[in-house]
Amino acid sequence: MTVLITAASRHGSTIEIAQAIGRVLQERGLAVDVREAATVTMVDAYEAVVLGSAVYMGAWLKAARGLAESEATALAQRPVWLFSSGPIGDPPRPDEQPVDVAAMIEETKAREHRIFAGRLDRHRLNLREKTIALALRAPLGDFRDWAAIEAWAATIADTLQPLGDRSAEPAGQP
Ligand SMILES: Cc1cc2nc3c(=O)[nH]c(=O)nc-3n(C[C@H](O)[C@H](O)[C@H](O)COP(=O)(O)O)c2cc1C
Repeated sequence: MTVLITAASRHGSTIEIAQAIGRVLQERGLAVDVREAATVTMVDAYEAVVLGSAVYMGAWLKAARGLAESEATALAQRPVWLFSSGPIGDPPRPDEQPVDVAAMIEETKAREHRIFAGRLDRHRLNLREKTIALALRAPLGDFRDWAAIEAWAATIADTLQPLGDRSAEPAGQP
């Protein structure tokens, strides 16, 4: 089975989370395709999908939102996991839900939605973003928790493997 791991990212940190998820799934023997959400139009070719987005001003980026909407029917027919990347700092802020994806979970029948801390790199921000970050006193830095990301990816691999490779193993194997 091929798993699509796709994410919308403005400054690169969320696509790196998608790549990390892809590496874990690959290590577990799954075929993966990691792609920017803006380059994906259909999900029919994939047996399962992990879809994520960076959160900006309380919302997913358009490319990820658009894909979830336009492919909702196809997504609902295969295992889907959603993730958001946004909160910044240690402990991460905002500490409440940074984005409301309830409708998206409903429409795509997603199994889970996970929130991961993100990265705020001053050198990558445009002037408008810098102004907002300054006004919000957002802490700068890379707060991505790779252990949490990899652990989540491992749970996805565990769920998918019985649907694929493991059925080919000899009887009696765990
Ligand atoms: C202008 C601006 C607005 C942001 N708004 C939010 C927000 O509403 N909620 C949140 O959790 N994170 C917010 N963030 C943090 C980003 O989601 C975080 O930096 C993320 O890791 C960026 O991902 P990217 O590098 O893939 O674009 C904001 C960052 C900027 C620069």
